[in-house]
Order: sequence, then C-alpha cells, then structure tokens
Amino acid sequence: MAQTSTTPQAPQRAEWTGQIGFIVSAIGSAVGLGNIWRFPGVAYENGGGAFLIPYIVALLTAGIPILFLDYAIGHRFRGSAPLALRRLAGKLGEGIGWFQVMICVFIAIYYAAVLAWASSYFVFSFDLKWGDDAAGYFTGEYLQTSASPFTLEFVPAVLIPLVLMWIIALIVLGAGVVKGVQRLNMIAIPLLIVGFVALVVRALFLPGAADGLNALFTPDFAALADPGVWVAAYSQIFFSLSVAFGIMMTYSSYRKRRSNLTAPGLVVAFANSSFEILAGIGVFATLGFFAYQQGVAVDQLEGLTGVGLAFMTFPAIASEMPGGQAFGALFFGALVLAGLTSMISIMEVILAGVIDKFGLTRKQAVYGLGGVLAVISIVMFGTSSGLTALDTIDNWANNIGIVASAVVVTITVMWIRRAGTELSGHLSALSTFKVGRGWIFFVSVLGPLVLGYMLIATIVGLVNEPYGGYDQLYLLIVGWGSVAVMIIASVLLTMSPWRYNPDRFTPWPPVPGERAVGTKTETEGGAR
Ligand code: ALA
Repeated sequence: MAQTSTTPQAPQRAEWTGQIGFIVSAIGSAVGLGNIWRFPGVAYENGGGAFLIPYIVALLTAGIPILFLDYAIGHRFRGSAPLALRRLAGKLGEGIGWFQVMICVFIAIYYAAVLAWASSYFVFSFDLKWGDDAAGYFTGEYLQTSASPFTLEFVPAVLIPLVLMWIIALIVLGAGVVKGVQRLNMIAIPLLIVGFVALVVRALFLPGAADGLNALFTPDFAALADPGVWVAAYSQIFFSLSVAFGIMMTYSSYRKRRSNLTAPGLVVAFANSSFEILAGIGVFATLGFFAYQQGVAVDQLEGLTGVGLAFMTFPAIASEMPGGQAFGALFFGALVLAGLTSMISIMEVILAGVIDKFGLTRKQAVYGLGGVLAVISIVMFGTSSGLTALDTIDNWANNIGIVASAVVVTITVMWIRRAGTELSGHLSALSTFKVGRGWIFFVSVLGPLVLGYMLIATIVGLVNEPYGGYDQLYLLIVGWGSVAVMIIASVLLTMSPWRYNPDRFTPWPPVPGERAVGTKTETEGGAR
C-alpha cells in the first residue's frame, strides 16, 4: 500500500440536503427502464397474476433486506461501494465493491443506448414516423441492424441521440450530488409520476383494456412450481430496486450522520413496486386495446416483452389510436425521464468509486472517465450491431453479475466478517422501523441459499443452451467475456494504491435514542 502516515485526509463527502432529497433520488434510481420496459413482460411470461406471489416474496425476503444491507454499509462506512466494503471487510470487500462498480460500467453503456432510442421515439411520436410497419422501422430503418453481430457501422440516427444523452448525463453528474443529481430528480420524478398516471388513465379507457388486464392478472398457479419463475422474480426485484450493484450503498453514503435509514427504505421499495404494477396495468390495458383492434386474443399478440414491447408493439399501437401522437410522446417521455434518473445513479457508483480511490476531483472523474465510457457506449451501440450486444450484456450483467454480487456480498459480510449484529444495530439506532434477527436471517441464510441456487441454475442453463439462439462464439466473447472483464478489472483495481488511507476511519457508532434526520430537530445542511 502506497499511503504513509502523512497521507492527507480525504475531502469531505457531499450530502443530500435532507431526507426528501434522498428519498426522491433513490426513487429516481429505482424507477427506471426495469419498471416500464421489463416488468410487464416478465410478469406476463411468468404466470401473470400468479407472478405477484414470487414477486412479493422476493421483495420481502431479499429485495428489502438487501436494500437495508446496502443502506447500512454505505452509511456506516461512508463510502462508495469499494471504499465502504473495504472498511467493512478488507481487501476481499474492496474487490466485491469494484465488481459492483464494473457491473455498473457494463449496464451504463447499454442503458444509455435504450435511453437514446426512447428519446428518438419521443420525437418520432409527434408524427408517428414509424408508419405502418413499426417493427420493420425499428430494426431496419432506425437501427439498421446488420446480419452479423460483429459489424461496426455507425448509424447516425442512433449516434446523435446517444451522444446527446451522454452529454446530458455528464453535465448533471458534473454539477454534483445536490446541484446535479438531486436537482434533476426533484424535477424529473414529479413530472414522471404525473405523465405516467395520465398515460395509465388514458389506457384504461381504451376499448379492450379489460381483456388486457385479465391477460396480465389471470393467475397461472402451475407456474409457481417452475423454479425459473422464482429466478425471474428475484432478478426483477434486484435490478428494479437498484440493489446489490452499489447504487443504494453509494446514495446512502451521502446521507447525514443522523439519518432514519429503514423508513425511507420502505418508502422507496413500495414506491418502486407500485410504479412497477402501475406500469403493468398501463401496458396491458394498451395491449388489450391492440388485441381488440386486431380481433385476436391478447396471448396471440407478438412482442410482449422487452425491446420489442417498447419499440415495436407500442409504436404500432400509437398508430392505431385516436390521439396516438400524445400517447406515444407520454410513453417515450416517461421512459426517458425514468431511464435518465436511473442512468445517473448507475454512473454515480462508478464515479464515486474512482473519486474515493484515486482522489480525483468530481470534474476529472465525470469528464475523464465518464467521457471514456461515453465513447465506448457510442462505439458499441451507435452501430448496426447494437441490438444483439445490448441483449447479451443485459442478460449477463443482470442474471450473472448482480446475482453473483448479492451472493458474495451477503456471504462475506454476514459469514466471513460476521457483521450482522453490528449492521442491524446501526440500522435500528436512528430508524423508526427497527430490524433484528429476522433481517439477519434473511440476509445471512435465506438470501445466499436462494440466490446461490439461482446463480447455479442460470449458469447451467446458459451453458446448455445458447442464449437467444445467438452464435456461441459471440456469446463467449460478449457474454462470458463481460463477466471475465468485470472480475479481472476488480482484481487490478483492488491491487492499485489508494490516494487517501481508506482505513483511517472510525465507523460512526449508533447512538440509541438520538433523534434522526427527518424528525422535528432536523437541521438542513448543504453539500460541499
Ligand atoms: N433500477 C433501475 C431500473 O429499474 C436500474 O431500471
């Protein structure tokens, strides 16, 4: 280690201006593409109404407990994922923190691409530019998807919004935690809620809406016997709640010392799930209308999930609807707002990590490293093979990366470092909702068992059957290669020297009985 006893103190950490700033920013992170783009299709494919059972079980047994774990670690050890985990669990912890940062690197570069598409489609909505063949327009005219996934040919229609999205994200991040991130969320989240509720209300009044809702909510209880349905529920919860990949740890490190941790966590978790279910209702009511127009049943429609749902089926529906322009603009506008606030949080994990480790200024990190990531994202996704790369990296980063991160973090913290009692004490010290043995059980026993099983099942599945029917060599390079890069980079980053001594730090002890931020004695203070 390079630091000496003369190593200067790290600069003071930024802080949200208060509890509301934190809660709104955390909701901004959680509510994202995962809620609008992913949840409705995942629920429909995995048992419809019956999916709500594994979904709620996953939320209560893993989502919220691991959200609390992230909050406790980030707040108690006041650092980005690598710094906080290093202070808690030494070099092994730091390595896990860098692995989480690397997951964010891979997610950020494709997340920006979906945002770019959504922003293009927001503009296209005003004259329904996709015409009569929305699916053909998306892959053909817009993305200009090439037959070979190895082709690198720039597509200006994607390149321009992608560059724009990166510029916006970097400007917001460069302005700082309060003046950039918090301010964006305080504006975007109320707008998103108003716009999205208007969209859902409109959808509910469309002819056929009830058939769509029946298709989504009619339970197929037999699906509950399929382990794959449970895996889908847990993966959905992690991605959607932004847990186990550094985001909530980083955001919690910007909270004031005397903060209520668990109650805001519950607010964020329930706000996220409510938005998700609202999205399911809006999307399936709209699909019910589409099926009604075509004279078919909802289950006979194609393109009910992911990219196809958002960029092929929805535009086609907007074309058939009176006032389709406004409907399309609301849908894609909501995707942009929800996605941008999540994208910012994903980037914050990366920036906070390098600022803490290498002592960079915020501007150096944002415009230096952020700029490099923007270029990688633009080269990968501004080209004609973007769609395949996105689908592949999305699958590996989420189903392998995030789940593996959750398994190793829970085992390291709860079994190797045995920090369960310390962290539950920290969580309860100033929070209105106390946690105890139940929380420790979920995080140390149930979590690693269920997630460990999921991880093994997913790896076996991916080895036995080429994902998405793609070329094996391509999957080896882009899918497994991404995970290999994440691991190698984590090792190298852990081995490199710290600018400031990370271990010169005393965790702030919980002080039972002290009043928390958010109660009447709260004193507001700006971020530095
Ligand atoms: N939580 C974010 C989402 O749902 C990453 O998209």
